[in-house]
Amino acid sequence: MSKIRTAFFCQNCGYESAKWNGKCPSCGEWNTFVEERVQKDIPQKQQDWKNNDISPARTHKIINLAEVVTREEERILTPDNELNRVLGGGIVAGSLVLVGGEPGIGKSTLFLQNALQLKHIKTLYISGEESEQQIKMRADRIQNSNEQFYLLTETSTQTIFQEIKKLQPQLVIVDSIQTLQSPFIESAPGSVSQIRETTAELQRFAKESNIPVFLIGHITKDGSIAGPKVLEHMVDTVLQFEGDQHYAYRILRTIKNRFGSTAELGIYEMTGTGLRQVTNPSEILISQREDLLSGVAIAATMEGMRPLLVEVQALVTQSVYGTPQRTATGFDLRRLQLLLAVLEKRGGFHFGVKDVFLNIAGGIRVEDPAIDLAVLCALLSSYEDNAIPPKVCFSGEVGLSGEIRAVNRIEQRIAEAEKLGFEKIFISRYNKKGIDFSKFHIEVIAVGRVEEVYQRLF
Ligand code: TYD
Ligand code: MG
Repeated sequence: MSKIRTAFFCQNCGYESAKWNGKCPSCGEWNTFVEERVQKDIPQKQQDWKNNDISPARTHKIINLAEVVTREEERILTPDNELNRVLGGGIVAGSLVLVGGEPGIGKSTLFLQNALQLKHIKTLYISGEESEQQIKMRADRIQNSNEQFYLLTETSTQTIFQEIKKLQPQLVIVDSIQTLQSPFIESAPGSVSQIRETTAELQRFAKESNIPVFLIGHITKDGSIAGPKVLEHMVDTVLQFEGDQHYAYRILRTIKNRFGSTAELGIYEMTGTGLRQVTNPSEILISQREDLLSGVAIAATMEGMRPLLVEVQALVTQSVYGTPQRTATGFDLRRLQLLLAVLEKRGGFHFGVKDVFLNIAGGIRVEDPAIDLAVLCALLSSYEDNAIPPKVCFSGEVGLSGEIRAVNRIEQRIAEAEKLGFEKIFISRYNKKGIDFSKFHIEVIAVGRVEEVYQRLF
C-alpha cells in the first residue's frame, strides 16, 4: 500500500512546508502556498531513469583531485553561431540547459530549427505542448528537414526514458518542462513538486548518459522562469530568450553558465521562415536616413561581450503643463533625470521648463553606462534644434559633476564604429591612457567635460 503524503509548496520560490502559510517565509510572497500530493514510499532506485538500463551504473568513490584526468569538454557545434556562442562554444556533452522565455517569443522555433540543422546528430524532440502535425507544419514553414530528427509527443517521464532507451539519441530537447509528469509524484504537471522532480530525473539522465538535454520553460509575468528558483540551481546553463513582441528582433542571453561566460548574447530576427541569425546587429539598430534630424545621436555600447551601436532619439519640447513630463523607453528614467540635472546645473540649460521624451531605437533596452554621452548629446541636439553631424558617435559615462568618465573595452567600441563607417567618435579623456589610437582611421576625440562636447558639436 502506498502512503500518500501531502505538503504545501510556495508556487513562487518552491519553499516546502508541512502547513499552509499566508506569507512565504522564504521569499515573502503572499498567498502562494498550494497543497500538493507527494508520494514518498517508492524507493529512489525504482524512480531512477536507470531502471531503463541506458548505461551501466557508475559507482562513486573518493578520489584525489590530482588523479582526475583533465578532459577537454566534448562539445557539439551547431550551425547556429549565435547559439554556440551563448553556450560558451557549443553544446557540452551531458549538460542540462534551461531555456526560458515568454509564450510566443520563438523558443520552439529556435530549437526545432537547430535540431533540423544538426544533420549528423540524432536528435529527439519531446513535445508535451504540440501535436506531431503542428510540429511538422512548423518544420515545413522553416523549410528544413532532417533524417536524424525524431519526435515524441509524450509527457510521462517514465515513457520518455523507455523511448530514449530504444532510440539512443545524441541530443534531447524537451518542450516544455512545465508539461512533464513523473509518475512518482501525484501533483499536476507544472506544479512546483512536479517540475522539481522531472528536472531532477532529467538531470540524472543527462549526467549519467552524457547526452545533452535542453529544457524549454515558460516565464511568469514577473519575468522569472515559472516554477521554483531551485530549477535554476539544478541545471548547468540558463538561457533567456527575450524580445519585444512588436519587433522582429530576439535576444538570447546567458543567465548562468557552468561552461562559459554569462556575458554572451545572440541576436536573431524572426522572419516568415524561422529565425535568422543577425551577425551584424549594429546595422539594424541604426536607421538609415538621408536627411539629418535633431535629437538623434549614436552610442557605441556593449551588450555583453559584443559591441553594439544604437540610436538614441530625444525630443525636447516646451512644457504646456505645470509639471514637465519625462519619459524614457529602453533607458532608465532615473538616469535620464540625473543627466537632465547635470545639464541644468553644469551646462546652464533650462530643461526644467521642457518636456523630455527619450527612446532607444529598435525596441532594445540598454544598461551600459557608456550610452550616457549619446543620451546627453541627443538631448542637447533636440534642445538646440541642431542636428549632430553625420557619421559621429559617442561612448562615455557622464558623472554628476559633468565629467565624462572612462568606459571599459573602448578599443572594441572604436573598432566597431570604424567598421560601420563612422568618421568621428567622442570618448572620455580618461580612456586615452595606454591605448594606441594611431591604428584607427576613425578620428577619436577625447573630451573631459560636458561643456567641451557642446563646444565641439554645435
Ligand atoms: P513559437 O516558437 O511557437 O514560440 P514559443 O515556443 O516561444 O511559445 O513561435 C512563436 C511565434 O513565431 C508565432 O507567433 C509565429 C512566429 N513565427 C514566425 O513568425 N515565423 C516562423 O517561421 C515561425 C515558425 C513562427
Ligand atoms: Mg512553444
